[in-house]
Amino acid sequence: MKILVTGATGFLGTHLCKQLEADGHALVKLGSRDADLTRADSLTPFNGEKYDLIYHLAAWTQAGDFCLYHAGEQWLINQLINTHVVQWWHAQQPQAKMIAMGSSCCYPDHLERREENFLRDTPTETLLTYGMTKRMLYTGLEAMRMQYGHRYLLLIPSTLYGPDYHLDGRQMHFIFDLVRKIVDARYGGPEVALWGDGSQTRELIHVTDFVNAMIYLADRVDNQIVNLGSQENYSIRWYAETICDLVGYDPALIRYDTTRYVGTKDKFLVLDKLKKLMPTFRVTDVREGLEDVITWYKHARGYKD
Ligand SMILES: NC(=O)c1ccc[n+]([C@@H]2O[C@H](COP(=O)([O-])OP(=O)(O)OC[C@H]3O[C@@H](n4cnc5c(N)ncnc54)[C@H](OP(=O)(O)O)[C@@H]3O)[C@@H](O)[C@H]2O)c1
Repeated sequence: MKILVTGATGFLGTHLCKQLEADGHALVKLGSRDADLTRADSLTPFNGEKYDLIYHLAAWTQAGDFCLYHAGEQWLINQLINTHVVQWWHAQQPQAKMIAMGSSCCYPDHLERREENFLRDTPTETLLTYGMTKRMLYTGLEAMRMQYGHRYLLLIPSTLYGPDYHLDGRQMHFIFDLVRKIVDARYGGPEVALWGDGSQTRELIHVTDFVNAMIYLADRVDNQIVNLGSQENYSIRWYAETICDLVGYDPALIRYDTTRYVGTKDKFLVLDKLKKLMPTFRVTDVREGLEDVITWYKHARGYKD
């Protein structure tokens, strides 16, 4: 198939493109340097080809408390990116199916994170802009289906983890931050200080599992939102202690800083729909997945045992 991927230079995009190429597809891989999607004409150079699929992964965000301090920029940039991609899809590539990324940040904290609640009430205040731009992306996809019959799939991941994450100083998703701090401390870096008391829970999905399921669902499911998680849901303290065990660092040396921002207390997706669509879906064991991340990070930093 001919496939165009936005966000191809990102964490998920890199893993997705590797798999799609291994499967023999012809890809156009776009990062912001290839096409700055905040510009209305950025996709014009790609008008000539007809694509079977468009994977729209591009988004402007970071983890931690980034959303708290960049609400305005996030609204402007993500609204522009999504509007231009949906507009180009409709005008130039209506035959293509669009596979786009939502976020669990769209769900309000007080409701179960199941697909029928995606547009209910408002996302948690600290993630309002990011969550609402993802809801608007979904609204755009659904609007194009309603009026023009275009086909889409919107996937909602729990936090993705795996090797080859960013090491460019950006705010990392919690699991990379834990690995970074604990591995650095193990090799002589500063003491580990974690945000909150460690009791907040988070669900992870290994990026390889996500990519496999994404490709499977892209082939089979039209015009739906699908939560894509692993049901591996543990406390930050559990993740920290497991990483300590894997790298040989004393967990008693970790300091929990209860004055810092921790976000939602518990965050996991309801996966009833996924189980019906993909009854055979199996995920990587979390300890093994964490070993992948640790091995990558130690290698990237040049740490030797
Ligand atoms: N990672 C997660 O756990 C997670 C969880 C929920 C949802 N998601 C969603 O999944 C998607 C992929 O996430 P990710 O973790 O792979 O993100 P990422 O690593 O931050 O990658 C973002 C991608 O978007 C591109 N981009 C940013 N601004 C752009 C612009 N103005 N024009 C064109 N491209 C632009 C980046 O290009 P450059 O490399 O050139 O900057 C990069 O390729 C996103 O839509 C995200 O919201 C991810």
